[in-house]
Amino acid sequence: MEPMNLACDPSPAPDVWRDAWKFAATVHHGQKMPGSDLPYLYHLGAVVMELLAAHSESPIADINLAVVCGALHDTEEDQGVSTETLRQRFGAAVASGVEALSKNGALPKNQAMADSLKRIRHQPSSVWCVKLADRIVNLAPPPSHWTSQKVTAYRAESVLILEALGAAHAPLAARLEKKIQTYPLDT
Ligand code: NI
Repeated sequence: MEPMNLACDPSPAPDVWRDAWKFAATVHHGQKMPGSDLPYLYHLGAVVMELLAAHSESPIADINLAVVCGALHDTEEDQGVSTETLRQRFGAAVASGVEALSKNGALPKNQAMADSLKRIRHQPSSVWCVKLADRIVNLAPPPSHWTSQKVTAYRAESVLILEALGAAHAPLAARLEKKIQTYPLDT
């Protein structure tokens, strides 16, 4: 299945980006990175940076959708913001993108990622790019309390993501592949 490419290189819309960023900063206020004192906003900024760097290398079809979904991608899963709230504030494309990027908490853990990937594949390719960027950022050295079994499972899940979504963007796919190869040695 090839990703849809609906939009053609729209002009960047920094006002909308900032609105999404402020919404994310408000919603994630007080949330920390797991096992760290850093604010969770660090993760969201890192994902958006990945997307902008990738876009400068090879255009992401709808960079506005990618940046806004990148900023908002954990508002639903982590903070319980509803799809309807996102739709009213950021429109249907963003709301449905973030919904697809959110794991369904009602499913068993080992099925939730496959389910999310299936839903992402029905989204425009720019939403696929958000998931690739998210996993690139998350393939940092694992927390010391992770068992080797958990590290191995996380690596395997990353391979699944690459296989499911890599067709969306060659440079992001290459970067994720490289991160997987060096994980958990990457620093
Ligand atoms: Ni994330």
